[in-house]
Amino acid sequence: MNSKSGYNRLFDPMAETGQALDFSQHGLGQKTVGNPFSVKAKMSVRNLNVYYDDKQAIHDVSLDINRNEVMAMIGPSGCGKSTFLRCLNRMNDTIENCNVNGEVTLDEQDIYHKKQDVVPLRARVGIVFQKPNPFPKSIYENVAYGPKVHGLVSRRAQLDEIVEDSLRKASLWDEVKDRLFSPGTGLSGGQQQRLCIARTIAVSPEVILMDEPCSALDPIATARIEELMAELSQNFTIAIVTHSMQQAARVSSRTAYFHMGRLIEVNDTRRVFTNPEHELTEAYITGRFG
Ligand SMILES: Nc1ncnc2c1ncn2[C@@H]1O[C@H](COP(=O)(O)OP(=O)(O)O)[C@@H](O)[C@H]1O
Ligand SMILES: [Mg+2]
Repeated sequence: MNSKSGYNRLFDPMAETGQALDFSQHGLGQKTVGNPFSVKAKMSVRNLNVYYDDKQAIHDVSLDINRNEVMAMIGPSGCGKSTFLRCLNRMNDTIENCNVNGEVTLDEQDIYHKKQDVVPLRARVGIVFQKPNPFPKSIYENVAYGPKVHGLVSRRAQLDEIVEDSLRKASLWDEVKDRLFSPGTGLSGGQQQRLCIARTIAVSPEVILMDEPCSALDPIATARIEELMAELSQNFTIAIVTHSMQQAARVSSRTAYFHMGRLIEVNDTRRVFTNPEHELTEAYITGRFG
């Protein structure tokens, strides 16, 4: 991978931008710059490598995600943001040709340990996708489903309480309280996404992963979700992939910049957007590619 020809091939997609940057001169393959490590990590990733068949999508990434922080992950399309995010709750297990090695811990426990059951793991580390995907069930059932499956409740009144509480936290309650038993799919796109967030919250996760949660939403719905993230970060740890640099700047406290499967830079968000350390980060945020 370190040969000149290897780089040329790797950087081919970037050549489409017509920019004459010689990336092989830009320190790719060196260590991540900035502060990927922390003493108050909720999740820690060490030396993560991910392959789809023999094609490597993530190269030796190490990163800590802090308790109650919103961490944004940015970078050009195809740089591995979704792949990385999916490693955090083992969603990649569901992709047959995907191979993961390295270490990922949640509260210092290895989530890839062979005795780790992925069902409770995915309740602790929930995920919200780009396209809202409510179940073809009522609004109530969408939220009640997880607590029922995970055996979190024994009485109906308790379930009602969790449903209301989750919908309130997702800032959707007032809009749906009079139609809890109508289909979730009948809501607007922005409401559906908040319903999916309520469904994730209902099982009391510790970490919420969001993969471009606003990219199918209009600006008003996006603003609602962004406000919500600020509130949620008081109780949850959030890792969000976004293709919008404005969104990363608005919602996150730290930002991780990925490039061709490598974690190039991690810094305070303000720093990344005003004074990036790495020239690849700078090239991206100034719009020279991406
Ligand atoms: N299921 C898959 N099978 C094969 N290759 C994949 C799969 N998912 C992603 N990839 C490849 O892995 C790389 C990273 O993809 P992805 O994580 O989706 O990037 P991003 O989310 O940053 O756009 C890309 O080259 C992509 O084509
Ligand atoms: Mg993606």
